[in-house]
Amino acid sequence: MTVRVMTRFTVNNQPVEYRLDPATPLLWALRDASNLTGAKYGCGTGHCGACTVDVDGQAVRSCRVPIGRIEGSTVTTIEGLSHERTHPVQLALIAGNVTQCGFCIPGIVMAAAILLRREADPSEETIRAQITNLCRCGIYPRLVEAIQRAGRAARGEEIIPAGARPGIDPADAARVVPALTPPPAP
Ligand code: FES
Ligand code: FES
Repeated sequence: MTVRVMTRFTVNNQPVEYRLDPATPLLWALRDASNLTGAKYGCGTGHCGACTVDVDGQAVRSCRVPIGRIEGSTVTTIEGLSHERTHPVQLALIAGNVTQCGFCIPGIVMAAAILLRREADPSEETIRAQITNLCRCGIYPRLVEAIQRAGRAARGEEIIPAGARPGIDPADAARVVPALTPPPAP
């Protein structure tokens, strides 16, 4: 008889049961089984932070965490942080035009959101010490400013206008069309 090992934990407020080897890295479970592809695979060794998600309030590098170790935990990914993409960190990054290629951004947003929950007004030194995510595009100076701005917004000291949301609006980008007519045979 085959015994199926299941691991259960909450992902973005939904209880999920993974029928995967408990040694499966959380990043794979999120990306491949749950289709939550916001967290990125960068190094796979716990160094770059591209895979950062929130596990029970801690910034966790999900490429290094086997799902069996987080049974019963609460996981939040970038998709679950703010459905409208209006978390102060997201607004500050957009308003400050911080993002370049964007690959590191979901992990940085999660790490920064968790930092601001712990420390409402972090100094530059604290931000540089706590946000150790790597960015190949070198956004660090603007990133520090944006995180401090997000902190002011979270404390109600500043309103960051919601700019144009980046990305594609699926309603504009694709539509159902009548069946295509095949080209005439030559
Ligand atoms: S992919 Fe997880 S830390 Fe780099
Ligand atoms: S914006 Fe390109 S890696 Fe950070």
